[in-house]
Amino acid sequence: MSRVRVHNFAVSLDGFATGEGQSREEPFGHAGGRLHEWFFETRTFQAMQGKTGGSTGVEDAIVRTWDMGIGAEIMGRNKFGPQRGPWENHDWNGWWGPNPPFHTPVFVLTHHPRPSVEMEGGTTFHFVDATPEEALRQAREAAGDLDVRIGGGPSTVRQFLAADLVDHMHVAVVPIVLGRGERLWDGLEELEKRFEIESVSTPSGVTHITFTRP
Ligand SMILES: NC(=O)c1ccc[n+]([C@@H]2O[C@H](COP(=O)([O-])OP(=O)(O)OC[C@H]3O[C@@H](n4cnc5c(N)ncnc54)[C@H](OP(=O)(O)O)[C@@H]3O)[C@@H](O)[C@H]2O)c1
Repeated sequence: MSRVRVHNFAVSLDGFATGEGQSREEPFGHAGGRLHEWFFETRTFQAMQGKTGGSTGVEDAIVRTWDMGIGAEIMGRNKFGPQRGPWENHDWNGWWGPNPPFHTPVFVLTHHPRPSVEMEGGTTFHFVDATPEEALRQAREAAGDLDVRIGGGPSTVRQFLAADLVDHMHVAVVPIVLGRGERLWDGLEELEKRFEIESVSTPSGVTHITFTRP
């Protein structure tokens, strides 16, 4: 069966994967770009922006696996955009512009479903009100033999970890203290017992930890 994967998921030393005060201008709230500076520098990220250049060292080797063999993504509504409650309009289609970097079906979890949106480049956003199990069933059907990525944010990744649906997860522990925001690890006591764990530190100061189901 296809695997469920999390990639390039950045967490501060105090366990936050996003800050407070998200807006269109600040997708990560008060965290700004601090969780992802290491990622922005990689060639993989630059290519996602349609640019050339960027670093090609260890960090790029780690991050570039994020789209290999992926056939669909599941994300939470707060990764898609800053709206809360009923949609005021359907004009906003995420931070990624007309050609988002996913290039697959993307299932956006929300208690406020709306019609699907087909973007350029193969990304289609489907808005689903579903349990993690049901969302994964739909994503697997769309992905065929390929894997499904859980794209975040933290409360969505946490739900899939709590339901024991994640087979492989790469977390980047960034040496910053955010102090507030949304935590990844809450309620996941003894999570480490379910996975084989490896870690590697990189010159940027980030520690990359992989959790792989045995
Ligand atoms: N650190 C990283 O690497 C990383 C990666 C990705 C994203 N992020 C950041 O993380 C933040 C978003 O994370 P978050 O934890 O605040 O929120 P999130 O996981 O993106 O979305 C949570 C929202 O999704 C909807 N939802 C989630 N599960 C659902 C379910 N089973 N059924 C129906 N609706 C469901 C609910 O929205 P409604 O009730 O409003 O519909 C819920 O409030 C953003 O700032 C984003 O930029 C960080």
